[in-house]
Amino acid sequence: MRYLSGIQPTGRLHLGNYFGMIRPAVELQAQGEAYYFLADYHALTGTAGKGELPGLVRETLLDLLGCGVDPNKAVVFRQSAVPEVHELAWYLSAVTPMGLLERCHSYKDKVTKGISPSHGLFAYPVLMAADILLYDADRVPVGQDQKQHLEVARDIAGKFNDKFGTVFKLPESIIREDAGVVPGVDGQKMSKSYHNTLEIFAPEKDLRKAIMGIQTDSTPVEAPKTVEGSTLWGLARLMGTAAERAEFRRKMEKGGTGYGDLKKMLADTVLREFATLRKRREELAADPGKVARWMQEGAGKARQTAEGVLARVRAAVGTRP
Ligand code: ADP
Ligand code: TRP
Repeated sequence: MRYLSGIQPTGRLHLGNYFGMIRPAVELQAQGEAYYFLADYHALTGTAGKGELPGLVRETLLDLLGCGVDPNKAVVFRQSAVPEVHELAWYLSAVTPMGLLERCHSYKDKVTKGISPSHGLFAYPVLMAADILLYDADRVPVGQDQKQHLEVARDIAGKFNDKFGTVFKLPESIIREDAGVVPGVDGQKMSKSYHNTLEIFAPEKDLRKAIMGIQTDSTPVEAPKTVEGSTLWGLARLMGTAAERAEFRRKMEKGGTGYGDLKKMLADTVLREFATLRKRREELAADPGKVARWMQEGAGKARQTAEGVLARVRAAVGTRP
């Protein structure tokens, strides 16, 4: 079984990224072959300014490794280490119906949020399909919002196979329903583009401050609080032991505990939950040589796999570089 996933280096990783995609990816790297990459070509469709990409890649990589993505278990690389992905993206483009891309929510959402409607942004799902198919991935762990992109990747693989013969496996998404959509401090989906994130590796003071700033309703201290659908529970349900979660829930349901105290409990839990990860990130940040070696190794392995798949694709379409 080969697992593959990617994440865009567009800003510091947050709890939504962790529970939605990174934690499942870390668990899976122990269960089969895994390929995890930083989608730096994809990030160019976003808001990063001139000269910002290298720093974003460096920080996101450290965040990812700090979270437990382990180059001794998984092939970890940067998307641009294998530029052949664009050749595959072109072959896929040629069989991708416009309607398929026109139906993608992500493009419309991003444009609504103010990202410029470039061709790259529109064609993003085709490059994403190439990311997956270039490595013969079987399963793709992603957060819920990427579900449609995975369906598109399967559709494109199917169209290609129909036209050129069975070259690709059809990849499947792995979406952890238990994580669902992790809420941000304002109650909307936690997302870098909404500026409502809790960053996993923010300094303790900043993280506490952000948690204390979570928006709550005006229920008085004595009264029971709404649990389901609340941001506090949406976060607390993901962390700590089962007993701690039950206690948190009981405190909300029973009343008598104010939001300030509940937030303090949540902040303690978050800091405890991520303490080991935070330490690991610090250690890795102090050893850039080791990280660079890992990346070089990962790039080599990724490229080798990609070359094999691409040879098959070229034979099917009839091109010869
Ligand atoms: P962002 O919305 O912050 O830009 P990305 O689009 O880079 O996040 O997402 C990277 C991965 O993390 C994807 O697999 C995505 O589904 C997952 N993810 C992001 N935000 C959340 C969230 N709030 N809840 C669950 N998963 C999330
Ligand atoms: N689109 C994904 C996101 O925004 C990142 C990504 C790019 C990806 N290529 C991928 C995820 C391939 C899984 C597989 O989060």
